[in-house]
Amino acid sequence: MNVTIRQLKVFESVTRHHSYTQAAKELHLTQPAVSMQVKQLEDNAGLPLLEQIGKKIYPTTAGKAMYEASVDILTRLKELDNTVEELKGEVKGPLQVSVVTTSKYFMPQLLGAFLQRYPDVEPKLKFTNRANVVERLTNNIDDFVVMGQLPDDTKFDSFPFLENVIVLAAPPNHRLAKQKNIELKDLQDERFLSREPGSGTRQVFDRMMEEEGLNAEPYMELGSSEAIKQAVMAGLGVAVLSLYSLKLELDAGKLILLDVKGFPVRRRWYVVHLKGKQLPLVPQTFLNFILMESDKILDLDYLTN
Ligand code: PGA
Repeated sequence: MNVTIRQLKVFESVTRHHSYTQAAKELHLTQPAVSMQVKQLEDNAGLPLLEQIGKKIYPTTAGKAMYEASVDILTRLKELDNTVEELKGEVKGPLQVSVVTTSKYFMPQLLGAFLQRYPDVEPKLKFTNRANVVERLTNNIDDFVVMGQLPDDTKFDSFPFLENVIVLAAPPNHRLAKQKNIELKDLQDERFLSREPGSGTRQVFDRMMEEEGLNAEPYMELGSSEAIKQAVMAGLGVAVLSLYSLKLELDAGKLILLDVKGFPVRRRWYVVHLKGKQLPLVPQTFLNFILMESDKILDLDYLTN
């Protein structure tokens, strides 16, 4: 079909208004010009698209299909227009994002690469635990947040990006270091080192232990994944941690991963904001950047081994 955008616009307007006169008004055209466009579209389609019933115009069956297609095409064109406009616009000015502490192992790299491309962005990246991130999200304090464990309610829009691989880390000389397929219950006498309540990593740990009917009371609570790593390396216990936080220590042989059934737990990282929130250009550009470029920017090979 040799359909033009102009014909679709006119046809969409006539169908929506059930009237040639209204469409002509809306589009600032004369009524004969509107009729002519519809006629050309009908000739193109080889079928009548509109019929008059009483004083109103209604689409025929073919007309309904044409109407749906017109709406689709015109909407896509509008979106394209917006994208192009935004691309012309300057990505410049404030960017305020809160991220869970565990993402400190990859969010700075992503932000760094983003700032290289858009040096006029003024970033504020706040690192805090999941509970604080959820509170900031609910109060709409940031442009968006990044977290691993999504809140249960549905008042948020979430966009998954990288994999969040959660593992059980131990010191290299651990008694089960060489064992395969360890049952979680075989670890019940282990000294678990854990993040503080409010941490997303802690939530994963608590849920797993509960599901297995095991005591989720940690041996020691530490306020950061860094502190936990140091304690595990020092032989104080074992810990459930995100694999992103362990790369250097694993490479250096200072830590090992226990081969426990149910691990690794593979989740996702998410960008989250309040449902329907319209992001300004800078955060929207960063969001798109995170979704499209993370895999290319970060060295993720060790996550798949
Ligand atoms: P956390 O959160 O840094 O508070 O443990 C991690 C997550 O949301 O998965």
